[in-house]
This record gives sequence, C-alpha cells and structure tokens, in this order.
Amino acid sequence: MTHILDPLSADEITLAVTVTREQSGMDETGWFETVTLDEPRQTILRAEPPASRCAYVCCYERSSNRTLRGVVDLAAATLLQWDHIEGVQARIPPDEFSDGASFIKADPQFRQACAARGIDDLDTVLVETWGAGHFGIPEEEGERLAYCHCWVINDAGDNRYGRPIANLHPLVDLRRRKVIRIDDFGAVELPPDTAAIRPTENLRTDIKPLDITQPDGPSFTVDGYGVRWQNWHIRVGFNQREGLVLHDIGYEDKGRLRPIMHRASMAEMVVPYGDPGAGNMRRNAFDTGEYGVGAALDSLKLGCDCLGHIHYFDVCSHDWTGAPQVIGNAICMHEEDFGLLWKHTDTQNGKARAVRSRRLVISSIATIGNYVYGFFWYFYQDGNIGVEVKATGIPFPTAIPPGETAQHGTIIAPGITSHVHQHVFSYRFDMAVDGDVNAVAEVEFAGEPMGEGNPQGNLITISERILASEAEAAREMNLASARYWKVMNRGAQNRFGQPTAYKIAPGTNALPFLDRRSPVARRAGFMYKHFWATRFDREQLYPAGWYPNQSAGGDGLSDWIEADRPLVDEDVVVWYTMNLHHLPRPEDWPVQPVVYANFHWMPDGFFDENPALDVPPGKAVYSQS
Ligand code: NI
Repeated sequence: MTHILDPLSADEITLAVTVTREQSGMDETGWFETVTLDEPRQTILRAEPPASRCAYVCCYERSSNRTLRGVVDLAAATLLQWDHIEGVQARIPPDEFSDGASFIKADPQFRQACAARGIDDLDTVLVETWGAGHFGIPEEEGERLAYCHCWVINDAGDNRYGRPIANLHPLVDLRRRKVIRIDDFGAVELPPDTAAIRPTENLRTDIKPLDITQPDGPSFTVDGYGVRWQNWHIRVGFNQREGLVLHDIGYEDKGRLRPIMHRASMAEMVVPYGDPGAGNMRRNAFDTGEYGVGAALDSLKLGCDCLGHIHYFDVCSHDWTGAPQVIGNAICMHEEDFGLLWKHTDTQNGKARAVRSRRLVISSIATIGNYVYGFFWYFYQDGNIGVEVKATGIPFPTAIPPGETAQHGTIIAPGITSHVHQHVFSYRFDMAVDGDVNAVAEVEFAGEPMGEGNPQGNLITISERILASEAEAAREMNLASARYWKVMNRGAQNRFGQPTAYKIAPGTNALPFLDRRSPVARRAGFMYKHFWATRFDREQLYPAGWYPNQSAGGDGLSDWIEADRPLVDEDVVVWYTMNLHHLPRPEDWPVQPVVYANFHWMPDGFFDENPALDVPPGKAVYSQS
C-alpha cells in the first residue's frame, strides 16, 4: 500500500513523464530536470491539491531556453499545472554535466590549449562543467552556461582528479553545445603522478575480523518507507534535489504519539573557495540546487559502507530523458551501539547500574565529482536527534609551479595545492513540536561583576527570550553567552507547566569569510546566520531559492525574512546553518579521511524526566583471555 509521502516509483515517474510530454506542449528538445513526489503540504498548486498522489515535474526546453514546471495528478493522468518560470535556469543534471565534456574535447581551441601543455590524448582528460554562477559579465547574460575545470587522469586510472590542469577553463554554452571562450591564464607544469588511491602493496596484515551480530534481528520494524524504533516513528523519503528526506518524525510517549517535525532535510549547500586568482575565483558549488544531491546518491555496499544488520531502501531517480533509474541500496538504516547511555554507582554499597546506548542510523552517501558527502541522521533512546555530515573524497586539487609557495591553500602533494574553502550546509526543519503551533526562543547566559548579590563572583544569569518575528530570529552563535535556540509549544506543558520544547545544540561551525557583496554571497545569504526561523510557506523550501543555478540572488532565506512575519504561536520552520571550514592537509591526499561535522536536537522539557530510564541494563560479559 503506497503512502502519500512515499517517493515516486519507476512506474509513477514513467507516467508523469508521458503525461508531461503529451499534455504540456513542450517540444522534443525538452528534458527532465526533476520528476519527484509533489508533497501535499508543500505542493506548488495554487488550489487545494487533490487527495491522490501527484508528481512535481521540472523541465528545460532547449529550443526556447525555458525552464518549465508543473504538477501531474498520477491517478487522473492529468497535467494540473504548467508554468514557464521566467529568467531562471534548471539544475545541471548528471547527463548534461557529462554531455559538456564530449563537445568541449572536440573544440579545436581547447585541443590546442591542451597540446600547448603537452597533453595530446584527450581520452585522459577530465572536463567538468560546473555551474557558471552569476558574475555580472554581459556576454554571459541569459545563456545556459557552465564554467569548466580540467584534470588529467592518473596513470593507474583510479583518480580522475590526479593531475590538475591549472589555469584552463572553458566557458561553454550548454544549450547550443559549444565553447564560448577558453579562459587560459597560462600553462603550469602538470604535477607528477602521486594520486593512486587504491594501493595493492603493503596493506596492513594485523586487522582481525570485527563482526557485528544481531542474532535475534534488529529492533526496528519497517513498513514500506515507514519506520518504528524504540518509541520513534519516522518516514523515509527522497527527492533528486535534497536526497534523503525524513517525514513525520514523532516519539511515542506513554502510548501517545507526539509529533516533533513534519519534515527534515539538508535543503541547500554551498562550497565557496578562497583563492581569488584566475578561474579559481569562480569556484563554488551549490551541490543541492545546482546539481542535486539525490541524483548523485551511491548504491551502498554491505561490509564496505555499512556494517551490521542493514535495511536498505531503494529509491528511483531518472535520467534527463525521463527514463526511471533505480538507485538500489540508496538509503541505509541500521542500529549502532553508542557507548554509555547513563550510569550511576552508589559508592557506599558499590552497586552500579550502567545502561548502554544504541542509536538508529539512517544515512545516504552522495558522490559529487571529486567530493563525497555522507548525510547521517541519528535517533537516540533519550529523545536526541543527531545530524551529521561525513566529508571525504578528494580535496579539490590545483597544480602549482614547482618551488612556488601556496597562497590561500596548502601544498598537499608534489606540484599540487588545495585551497581553503568552507562546506556550508543549510538544514530545513518543518517543526511540529506537539503540534503545528510553535514558537522559537533564544537562551543565553551571562556572568556579572562581583558585588552585592554576587559576593563571590560566581553568579550566572539565565535569559530566555522569545524571537517574535523572522527578522529577529536570524541569529549567530555566540560562545561568550553559550547561546542556543529552542522550538516550543506554548499550548502543551510538561509536568512543571513549562512549554514542551526541543533545542538545537550547535556543534561544528564557523562564519563565512566572503564579502557580503560578493556574487556568491548574494546567492547564499543563508550562510550569514546560523539560526533562522520562518513562518511555513509552501514555496519557501530551498534557502538559496528554487533556482540557484546562474542566479544573481534575491530569492532565499535572507530575502524572505524581509517580510518579517510574526513567529509566536505560528506554523514555524527552522533553518540551521552548519559551516565546515577546511584548509586541506597533506593527509587529505590522495583521498581525505572522513571529517565529521554535526549538531543535535535535544528534548528540553519535552519529557517529564529522563525518557530512557526504561532501557534495560546490558548483560555483563567477561573477557575470555
Ligand atoms: Ni573540504
């Protein structure tokens, strides 16, 4: 039985594509950027959506350079809405990304620039068609563009980013499939080949098996995309843009299912690089809105990506013709032992009670060019929800002339530098703490000078203030006041009469370094605050807007909050920005060990007491040796 929030099946994608082809009037040059579930709560339909399942469709018509979108009623096989969105560019799907390389390599000027660098075999050249951004250059206005970066594949053939071709950047017209110009800022010697990432010799021999067994099976139950585990209720979802989405997150408390979030996702990200030179200043990546994280999900492998008793969810994406493409094992779910949950020892009688923690892990991994992102969600027995990114893959390498000192970066291998950059993630939480009507508050602490009422200078004041409107709720972290934020329901109280609440406990973070006026900053206003709250609006889903590709900015979180809508006892959406600042190290070459970045949601008066008192203690096991 299909649930209204289940991701589209292959048959549903095929149906939506057929209906769109037949009923939209789009000509045969149109291709499909996105065919995904049109979620009832955030449908683009102006009128009330039908009760049946619908598909959201976004297309690009090459002949007219138009981006079009609509909604297909799947039960009625009818196109309900079809709009041309003026002045925007659809995402660059994987097929278009790779199509670029084929015609660029055939371009005589490009071949000449390669030959001038001693590169004659174009089969060894990797060209990547990155989103061109918007830099106010007149000849780039109104066209569908990409700005390219180039590499020579290493000799072992296992690292396509092994030998960067510095200073060679074709600007291409993706629509007409031609090179507009070659930005050639001067040849730099190709670095020596140090890039093998799959060594076969001298592997460690002292690793003994570490098996995870669950003889009675896992403690979760699965019904389609619905999951239940240790009082948690969660629905797994997917779309091409955000990848893994979680719906209807709730906790069963003494027999009562209490909602916490309608929906949670990593809604946008950007990776600005800090080198101002030549073609490098154009390097930034809105991987969600420009390319699509969901379109880039890996098929995971048991024993490699995942360990233990795994439940995999398959999802269905599609190519640009609209043909469905199933991504098997796209989403991994399993339980992990997570050390100690709580412990108390009575030192008088020596009796101890220790309870082990376990967590439910729901994750997916996206490979986007050189980089790999693992998107992990953790559910804990004490009501915590953890959000984590595991960043790995190959740091973006650039060739540097021998003997030259790296500026705005590090030498990470002979002849190779990698520039300082930030991975900035924007998470969207459509909140529902004990219901739709929520409010947000900021909690801060301060010391006071020694004096009357504070004779020993140890006083700490606690202040909690409601963030009454959207402009007021755009906030940064502050170490000096140990600041955090909470989302509460003032109509639902715990046993002390306090509003039930969940708080965001910030973790890994930084602030952006881009000048606020820079072209990238204008498109990524979300970077400049760590916490945002907005009133639910079904059109406000992506913090850099619906169409960040080549956007000049003007649509996104920092623009929406100018409306300054009231937030007290409203339908609230919370956005959290997590900034992973990264100056690459030699240890990140040729492939970077996982770097973790995370934050947590924690119940804060949501429960009446420790909700994990009922977790039974573990069995003591004595070592055999
Ligand atoms: Ni990085």
